[in-house]
Amino acid sequence: MTSKIWGGRFQSATDAILEAINVSIDFDKRLGPQDVRGSLAHVAMLAETGIISAEDAAAITRGLEQIRGEIEEGRFTFSRALEDIHMNVESRLAELIGPAAGRLHTARSRNDQVATDFRLYVRDAIDDIDAQLADLQLALAEKALEEAGSVMPGFTHLQSAQPVTFGHHLLAYVEMLARDRGRFADARARLNESPLGAAALAGTSFPIDREKTAKALGFARPTANSLDSVSDRDFVLETLSAMAISATHLSRFAEEIVLWTTSQFAFVALSDKFTTGSSIMPQKRNPDAAELVRGKTGRIIGALQAMLVVMKGLPLAYSKDMQEDKEGTFDALDNFALCVAAMAGMIRDMSVDRPRMRKAAGAGYATATDLADWLVRALNLPFREAHHVTGRIVGIAAERSVGLEKLPLETMQEVEPRITEDVFSVLGVEKSVKSRVSYGGTAPENVRKQARRWLKHLAKK
Ligand code: ARG
Repeated sequence: MTSKIWGGRFQSATDAILEAINVSIDFDKRLGPQDVRGSLAHVAMLAETGIISAEDAAAITRGLEQIRGEIEEGRFTFSRALEDIHMNVESRLAELIGPAAGRLHTARSRNDQVATDFRLYVRDAIDDIDAQLADLQLALAEKALEEAGSVMPGFTHLQSAQPVTFGHHLLAYVEMLARDRGRFADARARLNESPLGAAALAGTSFPIDREKTAKALGFARPTANSLDSVSDRDFVLETLSAMAISATHLSRFAEEIVLWTTSQFAFVALSDKFTTGSSIMPQKRNPDAAELVRGKTGRIIGALQAMLVVMKGLPLAYSKDMQEDKEGTFDALDNFALCVAAMAGMIRDMSVDRPRMRKAAGAGYATATDLADWLVRALNLPFREAHHVTGRIVGIAAERSVGLEKLPLETMQEVEPRITEDVFSVLGVEKSVKSRVSYGGTAPENVRKQARRWLKHLAKK
């Protein structure tokens, strides 16, 4: 017998290399609070069902509460020799209360234990993420209301397409984040079942009450299949997927911030609080936070990829490969939280150069579609023909290097004689955005309405 908790049938100690590859306490110590919570629920159930005595349960509970305090206050000594968080807690319990500690693991395995702990951890993390994303939505919606009438170029292919308002652009991200929150909420609802009591893989012969532990831990119900309970990590995959998608949204916005803060665009400026300088070029104001949001999205996507690859070849039930679920997830969660906070900070502090944006909105014949629409409305041209006529007019304007609104009426009439003075009423960028009143369109009055709707909705929670 060796000194390991599981050492009954072992004659010699483990190799140092095995210890090095096997140990997880360096990272799974984060699960300390969840591990204690799970054990407290388990021991209460063991006592209520008469599986262990009330005295032993009381001693175990007392010991676990002390351990919880030690962990919270940073006084707990984690030992690498004890492999993981579960054995660290159990072994400390034995130090504190003696042999009764050995009864805690009745009708339980580390397999259902780690699945329970990690679900609890991820569930808490999702709740934090939801609050953070709501705050980012609030920052965006507030800014959107301020910028509801600020005209900027709308792009497709990063070429000037049609004027839009900056508020409309910001609200696009509010919508994306709403769907992100929905994905996290879906993941949370599906993960919210208790694997505790699945034991190693087959369930247990002890008369446990899984409903009771599930309820005590805030789970909606116990999982229905013991093999599934200990062998799947789809709750991790789903959370990482939601995170990867959301990070991708943040990354696109971060890219836009990087672009818009260049002196070539100069649509917006970040505050000093969110800008760094260069050690050699004194003029530089670098958008490092935005670049890092964009960059960190890579590792978040990587965590999802890594976990998919870890899981794809595993036969049921538990395999130690699954211990690889934690580091990438913790890292992704930490970095995602930083990204969301950085985006909210940058947006709240950002200043907007409205005249510059407005001027850029008019460049590149951005109101050409308005001209085509006018030809359809005023002259009843089929849209395809209007498109063609407009294209010729744009061609002439481009040859002369003037905007559409600067082209003399007679010149336009050379292309289409029925065009009247009234055409100029649609060629300005303000007129253009104001006319986009279709539901979901960029008209300032729409944007104001949508921003107010979001602000009201976000205040409710
Ligand atoms: N540290 C392990 C993990 O994170 C706990 C479960 C170990 N179970 C086992 N049978 N070795 O996956």
